Amino acid sequence: MNKLTKLVKALSLIIQKPYLLNNIVKDEIVFKSDFQRAFPNTAFQQIRLVDLMESDEVRIAPYAFLSGSSLATDFALLQLLCRKYQVKDYLEIGTWRGESAANVAPYVESVYSFNLGDEQLLSIGLEKNYVESHRFFSKDVPNIQHVFGDSQTFDFDQLNKKFDLIFIDGDHSTEAVRHDTKKMLSYLKNDQSIIVWHDAKKDTEYPRYEVLLGIFQALPADMQKNVYLVENSLCAVYIPTSITSESPILNRLPRNSFELTLKKLSVKN
Ligand SMILES: C[S@@+](CC[C@H](N)C(=O)[O-])C[C@H]1O[C@@H](n2cnc3c(N)ncnc32)[C@H](O)[C@@H]1O
Repeated sequence: MNKLTKLVKALSLIIQKPYLLNNIVKDEIVFKSDFQRAFPNTAFQQIRLVDLMESDEVRIAPYAFLSGSSLATDFALLQLLCRKYQVKDYLEIGTWRGESAANVAPYVESVYSFNLGDEQLLSIGLEKNYVESHRFFSKDVPNIQHVFGDSQTFDFDQLNKKFDLIFIDGDHSTEAVRHDTKKMLSYLKNDQSIIVWHDAKKDTEYPRYEVLLGIFQALPADMQKNVYLVENSLCAVYIPTSITSESPILNRLPRNSFELTLKKLSVKN
């Protein structure tokens, strides 16, 4: 198909299905150029998951291997950060199946997991099965408390609590990430507190500018320099204390290898 034919086809498709325009305005190429225009002097730094592994093994459980799950290495990152930095109070925006909450719960005192309520999810037309899968793994874990609302409007002062680690994994649009990040700055417990963002990378190597743009727009310059991508995961972290980092290298030869042992666990429906 030549360029002209492609253009005519694209225009006729956009006229029939205007939402297809999102595929252009929300393309990573567009977000990347927006990011580079807004933060021309930013070169990402990356930390290594293996540097956080003080022992050889990290147990990831539960892990559903279902559509939209975080990576096992994302849960490993959360656990390792909680252990290394002695996190007591953990908050996450985005519960879904409760996998991240349940993975972190054994390593902290309290987990607050925040999500839109079921009624709200149904009212915006989301499928019943998807809504019912919320909290599947976290509902019976004693130190996990579920909190419901829209992170854009919810008054987190109601919780009367501040957190050592906040995991932002709700709506991943630039605007929502900017908003959630700005808002969460008021709920960090102290100047050692950590923020983790999910889906700040498209895959374990490539940045996701849609999310990174929201993060950098939200943070003051002195915090931006402590934001790192995390090797082998989809996350970015803000760690205020000194940590070894390096420039990420795309398509590099593997320098880490992990062993996974799969064990079937029973699930309670
Ligand atoms: C990617 S999932 C979270 C996955 C979970 N952190 C894990 O790793 O197991 C994102 C969740 O955020 C919720 N969400 C999206 N926008 C939200 C908002 N504005 N306020 C609260 N929750 C939101 C969605 O309902 C969804 O369940």
